Amino acid sequence: MIQLTNLTKKFTDKIAVNNISLYIHPGVVTGFLGPNGAGKTTTMRLILGLAAPTSGSVSADGKSYTALERPLSKIGAMVDAGALDARLTPRQHLMILAAAAGINKNRVDELLSFVGLRKVANKKINEFSFGMKQRVGIAGALIGDPETVMMDEPFNGLDVEGIHWLRTLLRDLAEQGKAVLVSSHLLSEVQEIADRVIVLARGELIADMSMDEMQEKSIGSYVQVQSDNIAGLKKILIENDAGVDMPESGILHVRKMNMRRIGDIAFTNGIRIYELVNYQPSLEQLFSELVAGKTDYKGLNHHDKEEAKQ
Ligand SMILES: Nc1ncnc2c1ncn2[C@@H]1O[C@H](COP(=O)(O)OP(=O)(O)OP(=O)(O)O)[C@@H](O)[C@H]1O
Ligand SMILES: [Mg+2]
Repeated sequence: MIQLTNLTKKFTDKIAVNNISLYIHPGVVTGFLGPNGAGKTTTMRLILGLAAPTSGSVSADGKSYTALERPLSKIGAMVDAGALDARLTPRQHLMILAAAAGINKNRVDELLSFVGLRKVANKKINEFSFGMKQRVGIAGALIGDPETVMMDEPFNGLDVEGIHWLRTLLRDLAEQGKAVLVSSHLLSEVQEIADRVIVLARGELIADMSMDEMQEKSIGSYVQVQSDNIAGLKKILIENDAGVDMPESGILHVRKMNMRRIGDIAFTNGIRIYELVNYQPSLEQLFSELVAGKTDYKGLNHHDKEEAKQ
């Protein structure tokens, strides 16, 4: 498992990654989110040992990437698809990786088919569209059948079918027990497949939580309730620590309590419910608030609660 501990990277006039501690969990897809310049790529480069931290550390099963015996079987990454050697064909590119890592060459043809590049396997990468290069990069990330798969903006340049294909692929990898870290600017790009989200902004960790937590804790969410005894219900819900408003007569907006519990409390007290509906702000809206620093997300960094940013 990959662990970041107080990871910091300073450039001359800039802190790109500021004291980040987190785990990348196995068996789940983690969306790695943040606006341009948030520090996502730098963090991935630090994990891969492509850049050295200013302070703090990264470890994979307790070791640094460069100390790993078979790094490609531990972490597979697609960090800069544009940096592929364009004079090579995808088959040559993957053969070189396979040879360097002592991986059976049969794996190369298997992967070329898998990423949909079999027909162009012997064409030079410089003839490829950006999306095709992404596919070469994706194949490269998978070559060592790694425990952790990291991809930086892999959806960029993919067409609709490619996006669907990649989403399915990433989910499958997680279901095989791998840790999958996928960066994006857009929550919507990873929302369907992510079990967790890590949000960075200006190099700082803003949130690290499960998708369910993100949905539940979203401050804007509430349950709308209508009942034959609004006043009675309101009183009982407040006694049970719910936050309750009455935006108009006959309607309650209930926070900090889920629908099931509201229903149970009403039932126990013999109060009829006419409406029980969950209202949630869109996650994209919540994400923008997080990034703008407007939303209070205390203690969501399960790894080190004291360090969680607000
Ligand atoms: N080699 C470098 N030298 C100086 N500054 C750098 C270097 N690499 C990154 N930075 C700076 O560090 C910050 C974080 O950059 P990074 O590329 O990690 O962000 P990002 O989240 O990947 O952004 P994007 O979504 O645009 O890819 C930026 O302000 C960037 O300008
Ligand atoms: Mg980047």
